[in-house]
Amino acid sequence: MSNKKVAILISGGGSNMVSLLESMTGDHPARPCLVLSNNADAGGLAKAAAAGVATAVVDHRPFKGDREAFEAELVKPIFEAGADIVCLAGFMRVLTAGFVSQFEGRMLNIHPSLLPKYKGLHTHARALEAGDAEHGCTVHEVTPRLDDGPVLGQARVPVLPGDTPDTLAARVLVQEHKLYPAVLRRFAAGDKTPVQLA
Ligand code: GAR
Repeated sequence: MSNKKVAILISGGGSNMVSLLESMTGDHPARPCLVLSNNADAGGLAKAAAAGVATAVVDHRPFKGDREAFEAELVKPIFEAGADIVCLAGFMRVLTAGFVSQFEGRMLNIHPSLLPKYKGLHTHARALEAGDAEHGCTVHEVTPRLDDGPVLGQARVPVLPGDTPDTLAARVLVQEHKLYPAVLRRFAAGDKTPVQLA
């Protein structure tokens, strides 16, 4: 069976993207075909290029809030690359139902909280504010509702005395780099059984 092709969408540094790229070797059932960003300054673009992966940029700003027009362009390189699976990895644009439906059942996202807790932004600060004893990250299938959709894996980290949003985020990120590759490997092999780390 031929390998699945994976497009990864990023907006920033792309550390999760790098962990996915590094995982897709050997007997892994997928290979990267594209790293795509809405931000030409995303640090991850150079990292992807250095890894020999095709990159593309579709800047959202000229579309001035017209999400559908932006997405009509965003989808083109994904289709051109022949992606079977789309991984959102720190992609910080909200996607419309129309865009999402084109990738139903084959688009994943990583979110820095134990969903369904703390959808949206500032997840680490919100977990601290709530006095949670544990926090973590989730990989889920993308559906039209923000940070929703079937959970494909979670990793937990303890909240420690003296944690700040930054220290907590750093500890969660370490787990993100383990969780997302583990989920993608399983998902690309056709297995949607949730991965549980820690
Ligand atoms: C990660 O922590 C990811 O979970 C989060 O952005 C960060 C991107 O880091 N994603 C979201 O908040 C999506 N709503 P990275 O660019 O180094 O992978």
